[in-house]
Amino acid sequence: MNAPLPLATAIASPTEWLLDEKTRFLNHGSFGARLRRVALAQRAYQDRFEAQPLAFLDREGPALLRAARLKLGSFLGMNQADFGFTSNATDSVATVLRSLRFEPGDEVLTTDHVYNGVRQAVRHILAGSGATLREVPLAVPATTAGVEATLAEALSPRSRLVLVSHVTSPTGLRLPVERIAANCAARGVDVLVDGAHAPGMLDLDIAALGVPFYAANLHKWLGAPMGAGLLWVHPERQPEIHPHVVSHNVGLGLATEFEWQGSRDISPWLTAADAVAIAGELAGPGGWPAIRSHNRALATWVQRMLCQCWEVEALSPLDGSMLGSMAALRLPARARERFPSPAAFLEALRGELPVEVPCFEWNGEWLIRPCCNVYNRAEQYQELGQAVLETLA
Ligand SMILES: Cc1ncc(COP(=O)(O)O)c(C=O)c1O
Repeated sequence: MNAPLPLATAIASPTEWLLDEKTRFLNHGSFGARLRRVALAQRAYQDRFEAQPLAFLDREGPALLRAARLKLGSFLGMNQADFGFTSNATDSVATVLRSLRFEPGDEVLTTDHVYNGVRQAVRHILAGSGATLREVPLAVPATTAGVEATLAEALSPRSRLVLVSHVTSPTGLRLPVERIAANCAARGVDVLVDGAHAPGMLDLDIAALGVPFYAANLHKWLGAPMGAGLLWVHPERQPEIHPHVVSHNVGLGLATEFEWQGSRDISPWLTAADAVAIAGELAGPGGWPAIRSHNRALATWVQRMLCQCWEVEALSPLDGSMLGSMAALRLPARARERFPSPAAFLEALRGELPVEVPCFEWNGEWLIRPCCNVYNRAEQYQELGQAVLETLA
């Protein structure tokens, strides 16, 4: 299997991005990265606000936000009225958990691949309600059918809500949310998808997934500025859901209510819609489908190449059927023998190679999760493979 070639369009040029080229940046998944043109677009909104604060926020703001929702909605499969802007995916998840009413004995189900910050937020919100969070272990190597069956078997009469990542944070796995949604709907259980990584990574049609709630980040794979998240809610469930900060627009409909959570900088939300257009344009005639398929092909190649290089077993099928734009891998077992912690290993690795890549312990295993985006090159992962071996030599 050969490494995919870089896209032959402007978006693949590192000079279009704000990243410092001295570092091999293999960690798009944490906070994303911005194109220069996206940063300029945000600056222009902020300048307009500073020049005419009232005109921009009070008089032009609602129309600008509606236009941004229309563009993002058409890109991600949502009616513009059916989602609200939030700060980030954690905010969106917490909004749903705080809005729903849980009874003592209710159970929120998630998996042991949940993002830790979300795990903590849910535990905190449920504390004192009498409802509990139960984590269902999903075995690795994972399969799509295995994930679906494990979660279906885990449902109980107490299950009230299933919280599932569309793409898991520690393991980079794309979970079958449509199948999970169908199984939960048949049992009358709500599903909240944590789609922090999904916009820009997956070809999304959010309203068609069959879930009542979908939380997402726009600053990761969509390349929007920090501070851009969203929460999509099925129309029938919208009266139940309110932002943490309720203000003038309460009762005016989900999208309108979320657009005024007290006065705040709306530029990340407006720029998110521009980020879709800018990246699509820089990607040339292939647009976003070309970006997504390049990144997935690269992640699939990276998974196979590093499994061979380090002689480790993959966490998911080698055909890439459970991957998006990230591939989490086990580190060779001797990493644990040589280093006291993943952080210590990473520090030594960074002494070998100026690289930014997440490395952490998950379920007693040491994992590394290289991310793949259009500005990355196959050689960077080969260098990573060698640098890991040299760090462990
Ligand atoms: C699956 C998942 N959920 C939620 C988050 C949290 O994102 P944020 O801190 O932007 O809310 C992350 C961050 O990496 C994530 O991977």
